[in-house]
Amino acid sequence: PLVPAPVRGLRWSAATAAFQIEGARAAGGRGRSIWDDFVDAPGAVRDGSTAEPGPDSFHRYLEDVDLLTRLGVDRYRFSISWVRVQPTGAGGMNPEGIAYYDRVVDALLAAGITPFPTLYHWDLPSTLEAAGGWLARDTAERFADYAALVAEALGDRVKHWYTINEPVSTSLQGYAIGELAPGRQLLFESLPTVHHQLLAHGLATRVLREAGAETIGIVNNHTDVRPASPSAEDQAAAYVYDILHNRIFAEPVLLGRYPDIEALGMPPMPVEPGDLEIISTPTDVYGFNFYNPTTIAAAPPESPIPFVNVPTPGAPCTGFGPEWPIVPDALTDVLLDFHTRYADALPPIVIAENGASFPEPDSMTGPIDDQDRIAYLQGHIAAVERARDLGVRIDEYTVWSLLDNFEWAEGFTQRFGLVHVDHATGERTPKASFDWYRTHIEEAAR
Ligand code: FCB
Repeated sequence: PLVPAPVRGLRWSAATAAFQIEGARAAGGRGRSIWDDFVDAPGAVRDGSTAEPGPDSFHRYLEDVDLLTRLGVDRYRFSISWVRVQPTGAGGMNPEGIAYYDRVVDALLAAGITPFPTLYHWDLPSTLEAAGGWLARDTAERFADYAALVAEALGDRVKHWYTINEPVSTSLQGYAIGELAPGRQLLFESLPTVHHQLLAHGLATRVLREAGAETIGIVNNHTDVRPASPSAEDQAAAYVYDILHNRIFAEPVLLGRYPDIEALGMPPMPVEPGDLEIISTPTDVYGFNFYNPTTIAAAPPESPIPFVNVPTPGAPCTGFGPEWPIVPDALTDVLLDFHTRYADALPPIVIAENGASFPEPDSMTGPIDDQDRIAYLQGHIAAVERARDLGVRIDEYTVWSLLDNFEWAEGFTQRFGLVHVDHATGERTPKASFDWYRTHIEEAAR
């Protein structure tokens, strides 16, 4: 495929996802997704919140577009809720559901902001989960049909698409250990969900291309995996973790093959003839989410999984505590690693998410002077620039998130926004980081 000319500076964007910002779960004929089931199950979400009302972007999206305009971003990454547009994951389009995205897209275009939606950011229709969810191959076919419906409705105005967000989180946290929806605890038996999500990505890529898309990419979450010590045991555990978190998601897409997981004692992927060609259908960009490095030690012999995640020594942490160490250099390292490992197979990278949560009040009592978030963003943007200087092709940087929103199993307890949201009233107030990012974008354009 023709590789587009490199952009001179980075393009700037900010991201959200449907279930995290829209609220209005019963509005406009919307169906139920695995996240509706998860939040309605008592005890599943830390603060018992149900994603409502929250930012309520279903009703307040014009305020979001106004904020994006003031921020000066080139693009907006949001996601389309499968169950708003196709309530049971099969059949025709729900006109009221797609009308919402029509309005969002039109408002963005009128404001001069390029829409860059994600088709799937974790909200699988409950009906499809009942039929096996991502364990079932048929879900990939259903996703391709859904992609075709959306492309038909929005493809005259939307030319840039992300297919699937962070299949690693769905597989490892959703199906292997159950921290995220659908809350299954299948350990290595969850591995077919990797293959079916990647197959869904490949099938949708073909559908979107046919519909005239200009930019298509998957969004993978990557981490810099570090052994906790030089011991052979810790190095071996880190090697396995790197395969499970990074390589089984990158390599089928980029190289058309899986790393040899059977050699590590894991069950084989349910690959059928032709699947890897579909999965490695060329894309225009590679969506890359980065938050933190991961330090891995060998697990005790009785453990069903061979590794444990341990604190990264000497690193300050975000609002998540030791799980989320702040190490900007780790981003440069993992980008360089991709550049050397995958070379010509790697299309231009777009950083599709990067950001941090810090403890902040629920209701505004005065301006939020979030210097720790500014330092995080500054450090990571500099890390991206260093990787570019060293030859890594990176075209875009996206902050997670435009708004404080529903942080999955953490509910409303973790705030990632450039904009504070009062989750009881929906009121939006830019933080100091909003002004910092706006100024940074302005200066970068000079
Ligand atoms: C990513 C998710 C995103 C958000 C951030 C904090 O893994 O893609 O929805 O929750 O983490």
